[in-house]
Amino acid sequence: MLVTKIYQPKDLSVNLLHVDSSILGDHSVSRKISAAAVAALRAATPDVRVTYRDLDAAPAPHQSGALLAARATPAEARTPDQARDVAEADAILEEFLAADVVVLGVPMYNFGIPSQLKSWIDHLAVAGRTFSYSEAGVKGLAGGKRVILASSRGGFYGPESPAAALQHQESYLRGFFGFIGVTDIEVVGAEGVNISPDLKQTALEAAVAQAAVLSPLSKAA
Ligand SMILES: Cc1cc2nc3c(=O)[nH]c(=O)nc-3n(C[C@H](O)[C@H](O)[C@H](O)COP(=O)(O)O)c2cc1C
Repeated sequence: MLVTKIYQPKDLSVNLLHVDSSILGDHSVSRKISAAAVAALRAATPDVRVTYRDLDAAPAPHQSGALLAARATPAEARTPDQARDVAEADAILEEFLAADVVVLGVPMYNFGIPSQLKSWIDHLAVAGRTFSYSEAGVKGLAGGKRVILASSRGGFYGPESPAAALQHQESYLRGFFGFIGVTDIEVVGAEGVNISPDLKQTALEAAVAQAAVLSPLSKAA
């Protein structure tokens, strides 16, 4: 029997997934920070492939009874809407798994993350793909990635602040990504942006300066 070995060159480019979720368009602070982070990483990394998602312009489908029903329907029997939603949800997971680095624009809305971002995250928590349960406990399966949170908040939520207990934005994302095995998490953020225009400007400039010195990218392990 003739066995042909197919040579598949290793993909050496770094896959960067850039996701924005702000509803404030050109006025968004997190969009400016995430864009600055991606620009700096592109400039510092010779071979980077960027995939972009704007979750406000093109929301991820919600986890819903309708989506579960669509998944339970054989592919050939799905309606066009069902087929689109399943394909979109699957694409979100595959895009995330393929990424070496994820830059997330993360506004704080009502003390947590925007529902747009939550809908996207809901497609990442998939048993057997990003985590597994066993008798030994939970195991994260999505390690080896670097996640950069480009965060913006109207107020202050540091450990000493009276509002610290209401900070469910960064803490939620750290908890979630940790659960699926991502330990390399950096935050480039602006706080107090709604306190005054001056504070907003200073916080944005500091975050953009922080983004400019992010270390270059490398392929996930
Ligand atoms: C719908 C909405 C809810 C908000 N909720 C909060 C909040 O709970 N706490 C806070 O400090 N700022 C809050 N803000 C202010 C935002 O955190 C601030 O504008 C931040 O820059 C949002 O990121 P973005 O500019 O990228 O959208 C809220 C803003 C909006 C539009």
